[in-house]
Parts: sequence; structure tokens; C-alpha cells
Amino acid sequence: MKKINNDHLKNVIAHAKSYGFVFPSSEIYDGMNAVYDYGPYGIGLKNNIKEFWWKSMVQLRENIVGIDSAILMNPHIWKSSGHVDAFNDLMVYNKDSKRRYRVDVLIENYIEKIQNKIKKELYKAKKCSGLFFNEKKFLTTDPKVKYYRDQEKKIIMRMARSFEKNDLKDLQVLIEELNIRDPETGSRNWEEIRKFNLMFKIGGTKEGIYLRPETAQGIFVNFSQVQKSARMKLPFGIAQIGKSFRNEIIARTFIFRMREFEQMEMQFFVSPGEEIKWYEYWKNTRMKWHLTLGFGKDKYRFLDHKKLAHYANTASDIEFSFPFGFRELEGIHSRTDFDLKNHEKHSRKNLKYFDNIKNQNYLPSVIETSLGLDRMFLSVFSSSLKEENTKNSKRLFLKLHPSLAPVKAAVLPLVKKDGLAEMAKKIFHTLKTDHQITYDENESIGKRYRRQDSIGTPICITIDYESFQDESITVRFRDDMKQKRLFIKELTDFLNIETGITSLLKNL
Ligand code: GAP
Repeated sequence: MKKINNDHLKNVIAHAKSYGFVFPSSEIYDGMNAVYDYGPYGIGLKNNIKEFWWKSMVQLRENIVGIDSAILMNPHIWKSSGHVDAFNDLMVYNKDSKRRYRVDVLIENYIEKIQNKIKKELYKAKKCSGLFFNEKKFLTTDPKVKYYRDQEKKIIMRMARSFEKNDLKDLQVLIEELNIRDPETGSRNWEEIRKFNLMFKIGGTKEGIYLRPETAQGIFVNFSQVQKSARMKLPFGIAQIGKSFRNEIIARTFIFRMREFEQMEMQFFVSPGEEIKWYEYWKNTRMKWHLTLGFGKDKYRFLDHKKLAHYANTASDIEFSFPFGFRELEGIHSRTDFDLKNHEKHSRKNLKYFDNIKNQNYLPSVIETSLGLDRMFLSVFSSSLKEENTKNSKRLFLKLHPSLAPVKAAVLPLVKKDGLAEMAKKIFHTLKTDHQITYDENESIGKRYRRQDSIGTPICITIDYESFQDESITVRFRDDMKQKRLFIKELTDFLNIETGITSLLKNL
């Protein structure tokens, strides 16, 4: 079995569209940049990912509760949270290519080139030295590598410093000094670096309303109400799933970077001084959650932030190996008491927590886990699309984890006639109250199996002439196409075990 590699992303996009997972939004009006709609199978997969996240973060944890706050909020919230002043991307426009780029991405790409040079030197040295090669020694003593590593370190430090100080002039000079060119055209004809606020502002009131750029603030402004009404004691968390909006200037790569997207966020409130312990806990817990899906350790890595968001004192991304390389999938941020402190100051409401063991009032520190649902969808979908050679043809199938598959089973009569369709429909109607299943009687059984493979249905249930004799059916498994015989009365339990969410949750 091999993964489709020749332009895997193109295959992913085409498959998502043809099989009803993701469509470009408003397509009959030529679409809308960086906005997508989910089709009949896409919504099924998306809902199952949500269910997996919600059950593992809320249902399985006594110290985390959920909320659903409004998208539209009092505009003062965004001033207090720092988003009006600091939620900007630094962009630079190239006059020749007429394209705009994020400054941090341009510099990070340059750093990546240096890192690749180091890897190349290492590879060459390993090849020459054979078995007795000392990698650690080589990396610290080889003059060329030392030069590259010094260069890398200096650029990283300068970039971090300039971002921290908001020193746009120095970043401009850095781009010039490093001779950074437009990735598309090679041009160095840059305009001045500018700030772009990422929030959408809509009318409706005199001062305007913002579409929320993160769901987190809905949690912070409800902190005291949730804590008191649900009688929560530190450490505890508040989780929420919902839409967020960002006016992404560079929004390519399918559903990776969208202007309207969904986030699954959890803010974990802890006693001040305990944040690093909990930050490490959540980093490991969230990585374990991802690994449960079985794509393998090689697909994930941590990337500790060099450039911190305005609210964080330490942060790390869980990166995933998307078809276009390793990119951020989920962020884990230590947000200190930044948000609660600012909301307390600007709203003039007491948001302190009363700790009856310490007999003290204080603002808790916060660890945030923030996962983009659409990115999670893309990670699952792109890694599950497989192609394999069978005896007569190529088979394209979606090897989705059965617990996430949008359709759990297809009920298929071998042929329509001789009462097989009637029997199959009866089985379908019995099973459908417990499981998301489908019924199909059109075309040959082989074609129907292929169709189910393409949408990731893990089980096909075939009703044949033998079924009349002993009330048994054939189940066919998507991944290895093996078949076995079961009694009809065994099907409900069988589907629960094979495709229910429980098997995922039990592995956490
Ligand atoms: N509350 C913190 C926060 O929003 P973030 O790193 O800006 O942090 C968190 O976003 C996650 O939301 C990202 O890791 C990503 O999965 C998702 N995300 C952010 N911007 C996105 C976009 N434009 N399109 C799709 N997903 C996005």
C-alpha cells in the first residue's frame, strides 16, 4: 500500500469535492477566497472529530465543563484582550509580484534554508565516516556547521527581539541584509512592512462589532459565572467549540488557513505558580490524544514558540506533517493571568477566585489548548486517503479511523431481486436508530464496495441467498477487504465495538 505522493494535496482537494466532504463556498458565484463548505460526508467526519474532542476533554474529566458563548460580544472585550492593538500580522508587499507575505514566514523560510544546509553537511560527513561517526562532536566542531549555526541563532534572536519591540524598521533591514527574495519571482522590490489587524469589523452599532477571532475570550468573560454556577474549584477547565473569524491576508492551502473556521479550545485555570507544571501536563496530554488516531509518531512534533503571542509567556505548537510539510495543528499556550487581569481592569468587575483553603482571593493563571477543527479535519483526511493496486485495478480508499468515519456501515443486497432488497431494507431500518448507516442497491456489488471505500465506510453488510436460510449476512472490512459471516442479531453489538467512539476514548 502506498500513500499518493505525486501532488497529494491536489488529490485530497479533488477527492474532498467529488465525494461530498468539502466544497469551495459560494462556488456558483465563483467562490469566496479562503471560505469552504462541508458536504454530507464532511459534516459527518467533522461532527465525529468534535465528539471525540468533547468527550475526551469534558465528558471524561470531572474538572472540565463546557460552554457555548455568543460569537458577537461587547466590542470592549477586544480592546481589553489586546486584539484591537496587537492582533496583527506584519506583512510586506512585493511591487513586482504584487503579492503580500507575512514577514515572520519569509524570515522563517530563510532560517529553514540554513537548517537544510546543516543537514546536508551532516549527511555528507556521515556518508564519508561510516560507522564511527560522532554526530554530536561533528555538529559542535565542524567549522562550516558552526558558521551556519551561529548565523541561525543570530537571526532567530534578532527576529524575536524586533517582534517583541515592534521594531518594523529593523525587520525591514533584516529582510534586506539577508537578501530575502519573493519566493514566487525572486524579486527584492519590497514595500515598507505594514501591520494588518486580523479581526473582521462589521456594522450594526455606532462603534462597530467584531467577529470573534478566537473562542477563548467567551470563556474568560464567563469565568466567574461558570466557576460559581458549576461550583468549580481550581484547577479546573472550561471548554468550548465554535466559529472564529480572521481576515487572513494570505489564505491559501485549502482548509488549512481560512477566514471562517472552527476552534476547539479549553482554558485551564490554575493557582499562580503552578502554570509550568500544567503547561507540561497539557502538552503531553494533547499529544497523546492525537497519537490515539494511529497515524504514527513521525507525523507529529512540538515546536516551541520563539515569537510569542501578545498574551503568552510560553507556548508550543503541535505540528503535523500535512501534504505541504510540517505546520501548526494545535497551540498550547501559557496565558498567565493576562486575560482575566485585563478584563477585571476594564470591566471594573471582580473576577478573582476565592481559594477557601488558602483563604485568599486571586486571579488564576491559565493554560490554553487550542485546536483548529478544520485543520484537524485536514490532518485526518489527508493522511487517510490511500491508493493501492488490486488484482485488476487501482483502489482509492479513505482509511479513516472507524470511530471517525461519517458512515459506519453500508447495507447492500447482493442483487435487487428475489426478496433480497426487502430483507436488506428491514436490516437497515433496524440498525439505523443506533448507527449512522446507509443503504444502496444500485449497480454491481463491486462498484458499491468501491463507493463506500471512497467515503471511508469501514464495514459493508451484504445480504445474499444464504441469509434466508440461517439469518446470517457477510461483513466486509474496508481496509483489508476480508469478509466474515455474522448472524443478523449480532450486528448492533458488532458495529458498536468496531465503529463506536468508545474504542478511541478507552485508548486515551
Ligand atoms: N486562542 C488562541 C488561539 O486562537 P492560535 O494559535 O491563533 O491561538 C489556535 O489558533 C488554532 O486555531 C491553530 O493551532 C489552528 O489549528 C487554528 N487556526 C488559527 N487560525 C486559523 C485559520 N485561519 N484557519 C484555520 N484554522 C486556524
